[in-house]
Amino acid sequence: MGGKLTDEAFEGLMTTPQSARVYGYLLGGKDCFDADRKLGELILQHLPTAGVAALVNRNFMRHTTRWLAREVGVEQFLDIGAGLPQGTNLHQIAQAIRPASRVVYVDRDPIVLAHGRALMTSAPDGGPVVWVDADVRDPAALLDHLRTAGPLNLREPIALSLNAVLHHVTDDAVAEKAVRELVAALAPGSFLVMTHLTADFNPHVVDGLVAACSSEGLPVTPRGREAFARYFTGLELLTPGVVAPHRWWPEDRKTALQHPDSDICAYAAIGQKMRAVPS
Ligand SMILES: C[S@@+](CC[C@H](N)C(=O)[O-])C[C@H]1O[C@@H](n2cnc3c(N)ncnc32)[C@H](O)[C@@H]1O
Repeated sequence: MGGKLTDEAFEGLMTTPQSARVYGYLLGGKDCFDADRKLGELILQHLPTAGVAALVNRNFMRHTTRWLAREVGVEQFLDIGAGLPQGTNLHQIAQAIRPASRVVYVDRDPIVLAHGRALMTSAPDGGPVVWVDADVRDPAALLDHLRTAGPLNLREPIALSLNAVLHHVTDDAVAEKAVRELVAALAPGSFLVMTHLTADFNPHVVDGLVAACSSEGLPVTPRGREAFARYFTGLELLTPGVVAPHRWWPEDRKTALQHPDSDICAYAAIGQKMRAVPS
């Protein structure tokens, strides 16, 4: 999957802000270029708590992965829009609890794939950790690849994460179809874990942020509660339902309580597939 990059495409990757690098900048990382720093600063002008929001998003992945591995016994993870290595990553959390955990990371950004393949690899005695170059907007190709190349067994439960990625899919119908087809391919017992930018808590600020992203060449599409909840159609939403990510079983209640949802501007939820869901 994926193709060889032309020189022009490679140049474009350096001079246009890319989601994973801007997110990394907001988290305090250094793997970014001028274009990413410029957009990161513009985002911070609109939402000064954007760094906290990014951390809250990352911590949602961390503590839900821990919970899924420890309490539920999940050993297969499919993380689409995985992003650059940032602190403790999903496979490290899963394999620290269940060493045999199998993890497939998916991204379409060649720089993310290169970093991931070099740095986000399995523990020596751990289950396989694999990177796949694929686009969430083409779930059929991704599923074909997973069925033929492994290492996930689609007949057993999987935790599918789509954290902070679907707001990069501008077309609502394409985003919904992607989730529907991916969820339909999962075995009963599987989980859908998701976060997504929303303007619901702070419309004026998020409008400005969206305009800044768009003008710099990284379009983002916030979605409201109803559209976000629709991704979970046919799934059983786990308690506490659709909430800002820092309110989903916060490990650090003080931090959660300190920040109003308008500082975070995102929704999070986990749904479980109890029975077959049509695609
Ligand atoms: C903001 S980062 C989120 C990283 C990680 N999921 C997290 O929440 O910590 C979004 C990631 O989604 C990837 N991405 C954006 N659009 C995508 C698409 N259509 N298909 C696959 N990955 C995509 C970007 O390359 C980036 O690595």
